[in-house]
Order: sequence, then structure tokens, then C-alpha cells
Amino acid sequence: MAAEAAPFKVSSLSGKVALVTGASSGIGASTSILFARLGVKLALNGRDVENLTKTAKQCKDAGQHEPLLVPGDLTDEDTVKKTIEKTIVHYGRLDVLVNSAGILVMGSIETTNMEQYDRVMNTNVRSVYHLTHLAVPHLINSKGCIVNVSSVNGQRSFPGVLAYCMSKSAIDQFTRCTALELASKQVRVNSVCPGVIITEVHKRAGLDEEQYAKFLEKCKETHALGRPGEVDEVAQAIAFLSSDAASFITGVNLPVDGGRHAMCPR
Ligand SMILES: NC(=O)c1ccc[n+]([C@@H]2O[C@H](COP(=O)([O-])OP(=O)(O)OC[C@H]3O[C@@H](n4cnc5c(N)ncnc54)[C@H](OP(=O)(O)O)[C@@H]3O)[C@@H](O)[C@H]2O)c1
Repeated sequence: MAAEAAPFKVSSLSGKVALVTGASSGIGASTSILFARLGVKLALNGRDVENLTKTAKQCKDAGQHEPLLVPGDLTDEDTVKKTIEKTIVHYGRLDVLVNSAGILVMGSIETTNMEQYDRVMNTNVRSVYHLTHLAVPHLINSKGCIVNVSSVNGQRSFPGVLAYCMSKSAIDQFTRCTALELASKQVRVNSVCPGVIITEVHKRAGLDEEQYAKFLEKCKETHALGRPGEVDEVAQAIAFLSSDAASFITGVNLPVDGGRHAMCPR
């Protein structure tokens, strides 16, 4: 008897409800569009409503469902509450939470002031904690999952991006601890840890076009695969971790970094 072809388990995402933050740009936008192609029903958060609307249109064109927009600044506690409330009122459930919203601030222990430190921690850690806290009861109901967007900067140490590195180390630990806390409830929690991915994040942190071009050129040396990554390469990993293809994976901080995490200067 011919063996039946095994289904692609990533297709388990079809019909699921996902809330994606950072959906107005970069990795979050790309993840939203891939999710739409996979048949996911989406709630999209970002601050820039024009960009968020652009992502929503691309999702609509790529999939069958009209995404729900839940825009706003996630460092604002009321916005976080409303983001979950509106998602649940609209869809009645939540299966997947993707925490992609984040900022990069350049600076060392000598040059990063407390306003910058608080801004990074409030955006990259506190808002993720709060949104996840409010999403968890719904994810327990659906036996759903969480994917956090961390960074190679959480696992490895780089000078000159201190608060950012600290924030992503916190997310890696947040991922592992919550994975253990929620495992008995069949909620999986993982993170992706990208290397340099071509998005707006570095220019928003202050690099001009020329500096950014040099930074990307240097990626040929700083990433074992000899290049920076593309947003879709991270989105694919997020889709994998969100789907039944990863049904026995929880508490993982998955590098999506062209081998950068494994490199040592010599
Ligand atoms: N690109 C890389 O090289 C790289 C590498 C490792 C990890 N990461 C991580 O990947 C994630 C996504 O970054 P990206 O590269 O896609 O950067 P991006 O293009 O700058 O996108 C960042 C997203 O986060 C949203 N955001 C920022 N602050 C927010 C706030 N207070 N409330 C709500 N949304 C907020 C932005 O919304 P608006 O634009 O609407 O304001 C935007 O959608 C971040 O967590 C970042 O740390 C990126």
C-alpha cells in the first residue's frame, strides 16, 4: 500500500485567530501577510495607521479574510487592554499571539540616559509582558501559542546597544519561563532570534542611508551565511513555531540569523 503523503502541518494555521503586533512594518508586516496566505484570521496592531492599513490590504489580497485593525501605542496600558478586548469581541477567541513590536536605541552604559532606557524597556519588555498577561486566558481556552520576536542581541553580547541587548535577554527568559508556566495548559511559547534583517528598525534608531548601507555590507562578515536576512525568512520561522508543525516545541529561542549566534571572533 502506498504511503499517504503527510500533510504540511503549517497548514493547521488555517482558520486560526492571530494577534500580530508590529504589523505596520518589517517582520510583523511580513508575518501578517504570510499568515493571511495560510488562512489565518488577523488582528493587527501598530501605531502608524496608514502603514497598518497597507499591511491589511496586502493581507486581504493574499488571503480570504478582512483583518481587524487594533492600532495604538502598546506602552499605553489602556491601549493594550483595548487591543485584547477588541480582538476577542470581534473573533470570540485567540489562538496565536505574535509579539513583534519593538524599537532599537543605540548607546552604551556611558551614553544611554534613563529616558532611552525606559523607552526601550517599556516597549520591548513591559508592553510584551502586559499584552501577554491579558492574552493568556484566551490562549489557555484555545490551547494556543505565543511567538516572541527577540534577537541575537539577547543571546550574544554587543557593545553600543546596551538597553536593547538587555531587553532581548529579558524576552528570551520571559519565553522560557512562560513556556514552563503554561505547558501544563498546552500553551506553547517560543521566540525567534533574528540576526540583522532588512527593515526600518536601524534607520529609526539613527543610522542614515550611508551608515545603513555600510552596516548591511558588514553583514557579509558578521553573519556566517554572508548576508543580512529578509523579513520573509523570519516570518516563515514564526509561522512554523505557530503551527502544529512545531507541536512538540516550547521554550525555544530559535536563531534566525544566518549562523551569527554560533560565531566567535578568532
Ligand atoms: N530588523 C532586525 O535586524 C531585527 C533583528 C532582531 C530582532 N528584531 C526585532 O524584530 C521586531 C520587529 O522589528 P522590525 O525589524 O520589523 O522593525 P520595524 O520595521 O521598525 O518595525 C517595528 C514595529 O514595531 C512597532 N512598534 C514600535 N513601538 C511600538 C509601540 N510603542 N506600540 C506599538 N507598536 C510599536 C512599529 O509600529 P509603527 O511603525 O506603526 O510605529 C512597527 O510596526 C522588533 O522587536 C525588533 O527588535 C529586528
